[in-house]
Amino acid sequence: MGSQGGLPPVASHFPQRPQFQGFQKPTALEADVPNLEVYGTIPADIDGTFYRVMPDPVWAPFIENDPWFNGDGNISAFRIKDSRASFKQRYVRTEKFTREREAKRALLGKYRNKYTDAVEFQIRTTANTNVVYFNGKLLALKEDAPPYALDPETLDTIGLETFDGQLPSLTFTAHPKFDPDTGEMICFGYEARGDGTPDVCYYRIAADGTFLETVWLVSPVVAMIHDFAVTKNWVVFPIIPQVCDLERMRAGGEHWQWSPETPFYIGVLPREGGRPDDVKWFRHPNCFPSHSCNAYEDGDGNIVFDLGISEKNVFFWWPDAKGNAPSPESLHSQLTRITIDPHSDDLDIKPHQVRALEGNNSEFYRVDDRFATKRYRHSFFDMMDPSLGTDFRAIGPVLGGGYPLYNSLCHFDVETGKTEVYFPGPTHMVQEPVFIPRKGSGEEGDGYLLALVNNYATMSSELHLVDVKDFSKLLAKILLPVRIRHGLHGNWVDAADVGN
Ligand SMILES: [Fe+2]
Repeated sequence: MGSQGGLPPVASHFPQRPQFQGFQKPTALEADVPNLEVYGTIPADIDGTFYRVMPDPVWAPFIENDPWFNGDGNISAFRIKDSRASFKQRYVRTEKFTREREAKRALLGKYRNKYTDAVEFQIRTTANTNVVYFNGKLLALKEDAPPYALDPETLDTIGLETFDGQLPSLTFTAHPKFDPDTGEMICFGYEARGDGTPDVCYYRIAADGTFLETVWLVSPVVAMIHDFAVTKNWVVFPIIPQVCDLERMRAGGEHWQWSPETPFYIGVLPREGGRPDDVKWFRHPNCFPSHSCNAYEDGDGNIVFDLGISEKNVFFWWPDAKGNAPSPESLHSQLTRITIDPHSDDLDIKPHQVRALEGNNSEFYRVDDRFATKRYRHSFFDMMDPSLGTDFRAIGPVLGGGYPLYNSLCHFDVETGKTEVYFPGPTHMVQEPVFIPRKGSGEEGDGYLLALVNNYATMSSELHLVDVKDFSKLLAKILLPVRIRHGLHGNWVDAADVGN
C-alpha cells in the first residue's frame, strides 16, 4: 500500500475476499478474437450478436469488502454468423473508468455512496448491469445514472446518453422494457432527483428516440426498484425492501439496508396518460422480489405479473439494521404469479392473488421477447439443483464468491407446468440466457437458448447453445480462450434488426 497526495492509500492487489478470487478474479481484459472454437454445429440461420455486461474492476478498491456490483462495466459481444463465432470485449469509458485510468488508481468509493469517494465525480456510474440495443446504439445501463451509449460494431463509447437533452431523470433503470410491436422503450428512474429522494420518474421513448411522456411519482419508501413490468395498458413497479438513508450514507455507511418491517410495495400506473396521483401502491408482506419474467392482462382486465420471489434478503451483503442476513445457501427464489386488479381500492394483496408457478430455485427469467407485455407460454431461466450432479468438492476452491450460483438452464411451459432442464456439466455454472428466435418462425419459443457458462475445470468460459425443441441436449459449445467473470444481463440483437 502507498499513499498519493492525501487520497486513500493505493492497493497494489485485489483484496483476499471471495468476490475477487477464483473465477471472480478481475480480468481488466479487452479482447478481439476473430474466430472461436466450435464443438457441434451452430445452425446457419443464427445471425446476430449476443451482448452482455459484467462488473470487472480495473483497479483494486480502497473500500473494504467492495461488492461484486461495484466493478467497472465491461461489455462482451459474441458475433455469430455462418455457423462461426467471434468475440470482442471493451470497457465502457465512463467518467470513473477514464479518470481512474488517468490517475492509475481507484478513486470511486463505496457502491452508490459519493461521500466515500476520493474525488468528486459528475457521474459515478459503472454502467455494469445491462446492455440493450436501441435506435442504432448500444446502451450500457446501471440504475444510478443515465445510460452510456456505445457503437454496436466497435463497442467504442460514444458518451453519456441524454436523448438530446430530453432525459428528465437523473437515473435510468437497467431493465427498460420494449414493446414488440412499436419498438417503444418504456423506462423509469428511481431516486430520480438524487440520492435518497423518493421521486420515481416514469417515461416512454418512441423507437426514434423521441420522448412521448413523463410522469413523476412519489414512492411510499426510498428503496430499490431494480426491475419492473409492462402490460398493454399498465406499468408495474415492484419495490425491493432495501431502503436508503442519506444520514447513513453521509456517515460513510451503505446506500442500502434490508428492512424486514417494510412491505413489498407494488406500484401500478396506467402505461399511457397517467397522472402522478393515478399510481396505486399495493402491499404484499415483506419479501424480496427479484427479476421480472413477464406481465400481461387477463380476460378480466387483471394484471398478471410473473416474477421471482424469495422470502429472504437475496442481497445478503446488505443486512438489516441489526446486522442480520441470511446465508447464501439458504436463499430460494421461485417463479411466482401475482394477479392484481388495477381498479381495486383494496391495496393489500391477498394470499389467493399469489401462487408459485414453478418451485425450483431460479433467477434471470427470460421470454421470447416478441411476446413481452403479452400473454405468453414459454419461460427460460437459470436454476440451482444440487442433485443434478455438480461436483462442488472439485470446484469449491475456485468458485470465488459474491455472485449467485446456478448450475442449469430451464425451459418452463407455463401452460402445461412442465419444466425441461439443460445441465452443462459437473464443473460448470450458468449465466443469464438469451432466447434467439428461429429464422422465419413466428411461433412463441421456437428457437434457441444461448448462455455464457463458467467452466471451473478449465477456468475459462464457454457459450452453450441448445435448441428449445430438444432442450436437454447441447447443440453447440463455443470455447473462449479466456475466463470471463460472472456477469449480470445481456441481450441478443438479430442482424436483421440492425440492418446489416
Ligand atoms: Fe437485474
